[in-house]
Amino acid sequence: MALKNDLLLKVAKGKINERTPVWLMRQAGRILPEYRRVRALANDFKTLVKTPELAAEVTIQPVDILNVDAAIIFSDILVIPEAMGLNYEMEENKGPFFPKSITTQKDLSSLHVASAGELQYVLDAIALTKKELNNRVPLIGFAGAPWTIFSYMVEGKGSKTFSRAKKMLYTEPVLSHQLLQLITESTINYLKGQIKAGVDIVQIFDSWAGILAPDQYSEFSLNYISKICDAIKDVPKIVFAKGAFFARAEMTKLNCEVIGLDWNMGIAESRQMLPSKVLQGNLDPCALYGSLRDVKRETIKMLDAFGPHQHIANLGHGLYPDIAVDNVKCFVDTVKEYSATLNKK
Ligand code: CP3
Repeated sequence: MALKNDLLLKVAKGKINERTPVWLMRQAGRILPEYRRVRALANDFKTLVKTPELAAEVTIQPVDILNVDAAIIFSDILVIPEAMGLNYEMEENKGPFFPKSITTQKDLSSLHVASAGELQYVLDAIALTKKELNNRVPLIGFAGAPWTIFSYMVEGKGSKTFSRAKKMLYTEPVLSHQLLQLITESTINYLKGQIKAGVDIVQIFDSWAGILAPDQYSEFSLNYISKICDAIKDVPKIVFAKGAFFARAEMTKLNCEVIGLDWNMGIAESRQMLPSKVLQGNLDPCALYGSLRDVKRETIKMLDAFGPHQHIANLGHGLYPDIAVDNVKCFVDTVKEYSATLNKK
């Protein structure tokens, strides 16, 4: 069955469109009271992720409430380490942590390449979401980039510097590559499973790209993102590497259609560096703390800078939990209304 609104897919495939599609990273998060209600019902984050009916419900909420042009499956990037044999916990109001982390060859030997079937609960949530969405908008699948997943597995928790994870790159490069390869193979299996279950497009999140020096980024991150892009053939791919402004020129070589920009990456400059790619982004989420007039003005400024085509509107990173829903709606509505006038010119 054809999608009723396939703007995102059309633009991702490089086609000209009547207006710019829009969705938001972390759109299904805590900004919505409707999400918090379901979250309370589930009791904890992992139960929500592992219960397909509830995961499907919170995936669809932003489509109904915010009117975005795509849904993104509700899950987390950290389901992959768990499927590989490294359990994670989500601490209330604090974030993820791993009771055991990976520091030695012996730790590594306790891991295995995950198969898609080990993440059946995500695949079931995707199938159910597709059914309930009833072809209204496309469904985005996702995974963390191997380097970002590695950071959490080695560090054991979030960190400002991820210095333990970076130390491993310097002191144990062979072990580091072995772990990155295991994560890469698991991620390829997982994304292929997501596509089989019904996702229409996938995004790779490299949230900790910006903490690596350029040479290290090529060797320990882009290399593996590139392997994933080469292996995933059936749907368009978006690569979002937060902070990797220095790697934009190299990203032209990636076998992906879309590059996500954060708000530090200049739009005109990025267009020059990535002429063959569709660009996604990149409003600073903090711009949504302003008045509705401010939000509108900043959104229009962004749309003018990207121009009418080859652009998927989004933020430069995920929404923060205390951003007002009305301001998010104002961002979405402004993209829809203003980009339609741009495209007519
Ligand atoms: O975009 C969406 O709405 C879909 C769901 C989604 C979540 N996490 C749900 C979530 C997605 C795409 C992610 C990706 C993710 N998870 C990333 C990459 C994107 C990014 O923001 O850089 C990272 C680094 C993680 C790891 C993670 N999960 C952290 C650091 C935290 C704690 C910080 C925070 O934002 O709360 C989480 C928890 C998490 N993942 C929540 C949600 C809705 C909040 C938990 C809750 O509801 O209690």
